[in-house]
Amino acid sequence: MTLTDRSASTTTPAAPPGSSTGSSTRSPGAERGSDDTASRIWHSWTPVRQRTRPAIVRGAGYHVWDDAGRRYLDATSSALNAVCGYGESRIEAAARTQAAQLHHFELSRFTHRPAAALAERLTGLLGGPLTRTVLVNSGSEAVEAAVRIAIDLWPLRGEPRSRVVTLERGYHGSTALCQSLSGLPHLANRYRDPIPVTRVPLPREGAALRTADGLERAFELIEQAVAEPHEDGPPAAVVLEPLLNVGGGIVLPPGLLARLRRLCDRTGALLILDEVFTGLGRTGAWFASQHEDVRPDLMVLSKGLNGGYAPIGAAVAAGHLAEDFAAEPVVGGLRYGHTTSGHAIACAAALATLDVIEEDGLVARSARHGADLLDALTAGATGPLVTDVRGRGLVVTVEMADADLAARLVQAATARRLLLRQQGRAVMAVPPLTIDETGVREIAESVAGALDDVRTGGRP
Ligand SMILES: Cc1ncc(COP(=O)(O)O)c(C=O)c1O
Repeated sequence: MTLTDRSASTTTPAAPPGSSTGSSTRSPGAERGSDDTASRIWHSWTPVRQRTRPAIVRGAGYHVWDDAGRRYLDATSSALNAVCGYGESRIEAAARTQAAQLHHFELSRFTHRPAAALAERLTGLLGGPLTRTVLVNSGSEAVEAAVRIAIDLWPLRGEPRSRVVTLERGYHGSTALCQSLSGLPHLANRYRDPIPVTRVPLPREGAALRTADGLERAFELIEQAVAEPHEDGPPAAVVLEPLLNVGGGIVLPPGLLARLRRLCDRTGALLILDEVFTGLGRTGAWFASQHEDVRPDLMVLSKGLNGGYAPIGAAVAAGHLAEDFAAEPVVGGLRYGHTTSGHAIACAAALATLDVIEEDGLVARSARHGADLLDALTAGATGPLVTDVRGRGLVVTVEMADADLAARLVQAATARRLLLRQQGRAVMAVPPLTIDETGVREIAESVAGALDDVRTGGRP
């Protein structure tokens, strides 16, 4: 069964929440995900008139079930964040224990142990100068914190830089500032550009981008953007994802990050790496930047940080940047934070997630199973409808000839009980890092079958 919004088609008006004349605020229907539930949620990023969608009621391992009892292999990791899959008892237990002891306490006047332990742990994992962590609730907030640090820092150094260089097809989140960092058409809005942004178009997509020539061209364009004469002067920061998520599962040319690091060192621009998606083992290394042994000035993390068990985000800064904020005239520090920043339950879940990733060797598994999945899809996803197959770790993208074909592929895969993610022409398989040989085989077979369905007009 799918959740259906019938409020538009029935003659009985729905009672407002909490009304004593209608159903109670916690109706039995709401518990099992009734029609009413669907109509009350304003679902983001989808047509407001879309009236049906599956209700997911349960998860275990790398599978989820809908309320009709159908089982799906989740190669979307929910919103790319369920790195440890579903029903992971160690994370669940840590969250429960923390909730019983202290669910949260605010982090501006006070501190608490789970947040302090998490910050310490991240410093250990990231190494080098990355020693000061701002804890927040989402990837967008963490990006915003990192950009605020970069922009607020320069006046404290007596040089008010505020321009930021980004990739046009980058995605950094949903707040007005974060949407301004991107040049993706669907993120255009009326609040654009609170700070000057130079957005660099990547030269081309597909295999050509991953060649030596692609690297030269991509680097040249970023270098030009950094050097561009601007009334605002040189950039305060360069912000980018090591592997573009919403931009279409784009694997940047190997060597680009290392060259960017040197460019930033030369020009003084801070290097902010948005590893909200790629961090915590997703690409077969703890952090994607480690493939090139690059350390940014600010590292942004979120999705995998606690496997999606609670909202969390982190901007980890080089310690010397925090020291510069001692000169800040209003609070002598960072003027950014939220009520639930570094929520204690979320931090406890993050610590347990890091334990699970370590204990179960999930980073190495991501590299191994990702390579197997890429091989299988390279061999099996062929023909004129497919224009590229690429990947790094457990992010494997099948690029279709157009977005409509990509949508049809996702639909056909769903009919075969495989959840895939679509970004324009890109169809991405991004399963939990706990995927195994059987799961990899199932994904490859279902994608091949779904491609056949698209070709022949069969199944859905
Ligand atoms: C690379 C990247 N940065 C930032 C974000 C924003 O994170 P959130 O949706 O948690 O605000 C996302 C989310 O998809 C992302 O992929």
